[in-house]
Order: sequence, then structure tokens, then C-alpha cells
Amino acid sequence: MADLSSRNPDWWRQAVIYQVYPRSFADADGDGLGDLKGVTEHLNHLATLGVDALWLSPFYPSELADGGYDVADHRDVDPRLGTLDDFDALVAEAHRLGLKVVADIVPNHTSHLHPWFQEALRAGPGSAARDRYVFRPGRGARGELPPTDWQSVFGGSAWQRVPDGEWYLHLFAPEQPDLDWDDEEVRADFRTTLRFWSDRGVDGFRIDVAHGLSKDLAEPLRDVGGLGATGEDALLLVPPGSHPYWDRDAVHEIYRDWRRIFDAYDPPRTAVAEAWVPDARRALYARPDELGQAFNFEYLAARWDADELRRVITGSLATAHAAGASATWVLSNHDVVRHASRLTLPPGTDPGAWLLSGGTEPAVDRAAGLRRARAATALMLALPGSAYLYQGEELGLPEVADLPEEVLQDPIWTQTGHAQKGRDGCRVPLPWTPEGPSYGFGPGASWLPQPESFAAYAVAAQTGVEGSTLELYRTALRLRRKLLDGETLTWMTGAPPGVLDFARGRGWRCVTNLGEEPVALPAGELLLASAPLADAGILPPDTTVWLA
Ligand code: GLC
Repeated sequence: MADLSSRNPDWWRQAVIYQVYPRSFADADGDGLGDLKGVTEHLNHLATLGVDALWLSPFYPSELADGGYDVADHRDVDPRLGTLDDFDALVAEAHRLGLKVVADIVPNHTSHLHPWFQEALRAGPGSAARDRYVFRPGRGARGELPPTDWQSVFGGSAWQRVPDGEWYLHLFAPEQPDLDWDDEEVRADFRTTLRFWSDRGVDGFRIDVAHGLSKDLAEPLRDVGGLGATGEDALLLVPPGSHPYWDRDAVHEIYRDWRRIFDAYDPPRTAVAEAWVPDARRALYARPDELGQAFNFEYLAARWDADELRRVITGSLATAHAAGASATWVLSNHDVVRHASRLTLPPGTDPGAWLLSGGTEPAVDRAAGLRRARAATALMLALPGSAYLYQGEELGLPEVADLPEEVLQDPIWTQTGHAQKGRDGCRVPLPWTPEGPSYGFGPGASWLPQPESFAAYAVAAQTGVEGSTLELYRTALRLRRKLLDGETLTWMTGAPPGVLDFARGRGWRCVTNLGEEPVALPAGELLLASAPLADAGILPPDTTVWLA
């Protein structure tokens, strides 16, 4: 059995980590926005679900220009979400229940409301305060053009002009100025932040935009030309490490420095990189003397196709093991269309275009999507390594694709000039009960409207109901704890086309039928099935089983 005890330094290697998006989890104080007390009050849900840890998306002071990833103070709690005492109470209760706590660190940028940026605006060109960020004069006769052609991930130029004529860099929203990681004060401040939360009992960190911190800021700054904004595709077109702002080799020095901080604690603090980079480069962030783990977005992006998934799984395990890391798996998070909806989009559908159509083009079959999502989850939970779950997926929640335009909050909506709807549809507050003004999320309405269909997905509506998605997750996680040992798998030979079939250490096996036709069910005691098996001996399409 995997040793997930609190003092085991390797607890993270095969842990299941549940992502809480605090503003959408539970609202204890009734202001419509989820808060830390709401999380604490519902930690029992995580304990009975059977996860090992929770990762808290940012809960820091923020004007919510980017859902909390615009941090105005890295060492405090947003007053709308609570206080540092509430945070301490959350950690204490989590630890009492045997759950680890992972905090989200946002080092690439601050909010424009951060005291440092406000000081930089006041201090003017050439000041030390501006050196903490990336300020430059513009191009053109009067400096009226941005310093380079760099594009924001959210759309438009990555440069914003300030009244004195200089421009500052923001790879995300204009309210998120990028820090200059060549500045020693910036480095020192984040060391303080890591120690601050570690001292408060945080067990690990998720590092936001881990591949963006180092930039080539040598003069003159280089244009990227046709390399585009988001990085990952662009990174395949340039020699590794040579893009001016994504995935530069120098970024690894920062993480080697942080590792010394993590290792000063007992057990050592863990970390996982959010790095949208190609597979082989991702492993560098996960080296044991750096962050230890990196999210595997290739798995998330893979089509529902046996050959493609087998290739991604084999490749991911090999790269993670070569780096000394454990593999990671994720199907949903706060940035992507929920997998209960995504996996049912016909191959080649752009999820962004589907969202723009309000989820009507193409129309999706919700039941079919949920069936596939359950099969995908059961497959993921059988893989060696750690699995990251996103709040609500244990309820089978679909994407809310038809949010009315007037409620949209994601800066992507405005920054793309309404060409992309953004990520609000996966951030709609959770339903806890089938009744109530916000289905048990809080005493009143929630900050994003929930569709009526959420009632049927509520935690209370699924608890104890045989065959519900929630009970499937609970059963799978309970079994997983019992069955886990080594970090390898063996592909079974002779699986029919469209079927993934692999064995794990203690004599158990996971079989998924991704094809369109039923196949024969291999022999063995049935431990788990992602959907009812109507005919004995038959594994229907879009179904995963675990067999002893
Ligand atoms: C990460 C976060 C995303 C955020 C961005 C900028 O990708 O997951 O939500 O918008 O960083 O901080």
C-alpha cells in the first residue's frame, strides 16, 4: 500500500490532489463569493472522497482581474475570503483529517495594485522601483509603439503604456505586470513568501506559469515574429531554451534555489510546475533538485483515442522516470473545458468555438459525455503517479457553456474583443444540495449563476446513490489506496484495437474500451466498473474496468 502518512517525504509521488477554486467552492459568509471558512466547513467532503491533499487556487488579496491570479499581496488572505486565522484553521482541520495542503504561488507577475507596482508608477523612469518589473521606452518617433511584438496570452499586445510614456510588460492581463526575475529583491521576496506559507503548515506549492519567469531582457529586446503568444506551439519551432520569454534555461536556477528552501522543512515541501512546454522540456522542471513534479498537459490534451493515449502515457512515464519525478495526470482544471463536456466534442472541434456558440454547435450528448468522463477518470486513477482532480468533476459536472455574456468575468472575453468566451464555464460554483438559492453553495445567490440542471449533480443528491459519479470516485479512490505500490505499468499484449489494457504491480489490471464496439471482457475478479456491465463477459464502449 502506498505510504501516505504525514511524515513520509515521498507522500506526493502517487497522491491524489483535489483542486479547490476557493471563490467557487462554498460561501460561508453569504456574500456570493466562496471563502476559506466555506472550504474548512466542507473538508469532510474531501476526506470521505478519499483524496490525499487539496490544492487551493489563489486566495490572496486581489481585485479579480484574473480570477485571483492577479495577486496584490502574496502573504495575506483576501478580506472577502477571510483572514490569516481562517487560513490557519483550514490547515489545522485539513491536517486533522489527514489531508495535505498545497498553495498556489504566482511568481511571474503581480496585480497592478501590488504596492511594488504602485510605487513603480509613482517613481518614474529609471527608478529602482521600476527595475522590479519590465519597463521600457516605446519604439517609433515618439515612443508611441510597443517595445516589441510580444503578445499577451489573453490576446493583444503584451505591453501597456503608462502616462509618463514608458511601457510595461504583461504576458497576461494588463492588470498583471510581469516581474523581472533578474532583480535580486524580487527573488528575495519570493523566498520570504515560500517560507511564510511553509511556516504556516503548507505542505506543497503549485507554481503558476513556471516556464515564464526568466526572460531575455538584453537590449535590444528581440521580436518573436510569427511565434505566437501561448508558447507551447511556438516552442516547438525554436531551438529549446531560445524563446525570449518562455521556457528559458535560466529559469531552472530559480527552482534550484527554491529546492533548498523546501528541503529545509521536515517533511520537505513539495512543488508542481504549471509549465506549458513540450514533454521533454517539462521533465526539467520536475527534477528532484528543482520542483519535483510538473503537470502533464499532454494527457489532458490527448484525444479519446487508444493509440494516442497509449503513446502519451508511455512517453509521460518515461520522461518522468528519467527525471526522477513521478508522473502526473490531469483531466480538468480551472483553465479548460470540463472533461465531461470536452471528451464528447467530435474530433477536431475547437472547444473555444464550441463555447462561443453557447454549447450548441455542435450539440453535445451529456449522458455520453459523462459516460466517457467516468471511463477516462477510472483510467487516470489506475495510472502510476499522482492524479490532480478539479472540484466538481467528482460530481460529473458539465461545462456551463451558455453563461450569458453579461456575467462573464474572464479577461479573455474582453481582451480578445469577444472572439473567445474564456474560462468561466468551468468555474461556476459547486452544487451541494438539490435545493436552495445556490444549491447549497451559500445562503444566497452565487457570483456566477448556476444552471437548474446543477440540482441533480449536487453532492447530497449523489451521496449513497449506487452508480452515481460521486460514489464511483469514492470507490475508485478507496481501492486505489489499497492497490497502489510501484510506479510502473505493463501493457498487456493482444488487446483488441481501441482498447487500453495494462497491469499494475499487485496483480491488478485496468482495461478501457475506447472503441465503438463492445469487446470481450478479460477474465478476472471485477473490482470497479465505470458504467454498469449489462452482459457478463462484455466490456461496452466508453467503459473502464479494474480487474484483480
Ligand atoms: C495560469 C493559471 C491561469 C491564470 C494564468 C495567469 O495559467 O492557471 O488561471 O490566468 O496562469 O496567472
